Formats: sequence, C-alpha cells, structure tokens
Amino acid sequence: MPTVRITGCDYGIGFEFARQYASDNWRVHVICLEEDSEQKIAAVPGDVQFHNVDVSSPTMLKSLADHLQEEAIDLLINNAATFAPDGPGTLMLPDIDEFTRVMKVNAVAPVYVASAFEQHVARSEHKLIVFIGTRSGSIGDNTSGGHYAYRCSKTALNMAAKSISVDFAKHGICAAVLHPGSVATETGRVGRYQWLKA
Ligand SMILES: NC(=O)c1ccc[n+]([C@@H]2O[C@H](COP(=O)([O-])OP(=O)(O)OC[C@H]3O[C@@H](n4cnc5c(N)ncnc54)[C@H](OP(=O)(O)O)[C@@H]3O)[C@@H](O)[C@H]2O)c1
Repeated sequence: MPTVRITGCDYGIGFEFARQYASDNWRVHVICLEEDSEQKIAAVPGDVQFHNVDVSSPTMLKSLADHLQEEAIDLLINNAATFAPDGPGTLMLPDIDEFTRVMKVNAVAPVYVASAFEQHVARSEHKLIVFIGTRSGSIGDNTSGGHYAYRCSKTALNMAAKSISVDFAKHGICAAVLHPGSVATETGRVGRYQWLKA
C-alpha cells in the first residue's frame, strides 16, 4: 500500500486529496493546521492518520519526522497555503507582517517540509514530491499585477522546487510544481482566487 503525506488538509483541495487517495486505498497522513479538524478527518473512510502541525514551525516538523521513524512516504504533497487581504494604496499592499507571513507559509515552509521528510521519501518506492503552485506565480503570465504577497510567494516556491529537484535527484526523487486550475474551494474562500481564470 503506497503512502501519501499531504499538508493543509483542513479544507479545500488538501482535504479532497486526502479523501480521494484514501478511497484509492493509499495510506494517508494528513497535516492540518487546526486541532479541530481531527473529527472531520476521522470521518474519512480508509487508512487516514491525522497530524496537527503548523508547516511553518520547524520544531513541529522535526517532531513529526522523528515520530515517523523508518516509515516511507511515496508521495509528499505540499499543498498548504495562506493569503493576505489587499491593503490600501495604488499597490494595495497588505501589512508588511502579513506579506512576510505569506512568504513564510507558501515559499519557505515547503522547503522545510521537503527537508524534514527527505529520507522518508528517499526510502519509498515512488519517490515523488509535489508542490501545489499556481499560474499566479508565473512571471510570464502576469498581465494583471497586484496580489503581491501571494504571487511573490508562489514564484519563490517555483525556484525552491527547482533546487529541490536538483538536490534530491541523488535519491532518485522526482519533484514537480503543479497548478490545480481554478478550484471553487470552501464557500466564502472562493474570492481569494477571483483574479484567476484558469
Ligand atoms: N483553489 C484554487 O483555485 C487554487 C488555484 C491555484 C492554486 N491553488 C493552490 O492549491 C492549494 C490549496 O488551495 P485551496 O484552495 O484548497 O486553499 P484552502 O481551502 O485555503 O486550503 C489551504 C489549507 O492550508 C492550510 N494551512 C494554511 N497555513 C498552514 C500552515 N501554516 N500549516 C498547515 N496548514 C496550513 C489551511 O488551513 P486554514 O484554513 O486553517 O488556514 C487550509 O486547510 C494552495 O497551495 C493554493 O495556493 C488553489
């Protein structure tokens, strides 16, 4: 039975990934930000294990990696992401701390997630790491501007993923960035992607 580990499963695409992999008989480890998500995850049929981890906390990542010990991870999906509301002014910049928080969760944390589970993926059969990116992070595709925090974080994620693909090639690990298209996730959250027309 292959194993998948998915970050950001409280809602949206991450939750649906967990549900579908479990129904395809994968062993699923979900990482959720909120403790309260445990009940929802427990209702998903299949071999699904819940972990309450903030991916931007290296301490929590390390303790989860230690807890896993010798287990293999066939597919690691870096899905968790966050957003910053638009602010005032021509550039509609959010508060600088919000901008930095988005960079930390969306661009920096996935590198630390990949690093924490490097050996677990390396010892697996499939050896895959996926980063959920977005066309909003494409420099060539940016014709509408704005959304600085989210766009910059996802562009930086592209570069991080490229370096990881080079550095982990020695293990036979394949790392890729995938854009899921425009997905109408949780009611009330859809507006976050209103500028995206995939
Ligand atoms: N939906 C789209 O149209 C679309 C388009 C392009 C790309 N994407 C990408 O697809 C991925 C999933 O998007 P989505 O629409 O499913 O978004 P979502 O519904 O907001 O889900 C993101 C998940 O990540 C969690 N999360 C945030 N910060 C975290 C942290 N520090 N540690 C652990 N988990 C954390 C969130 O928890 P909380 O809700 O509790 O904060 C949430 O469960 C993202 O990478 C996004 O950039 C989505």
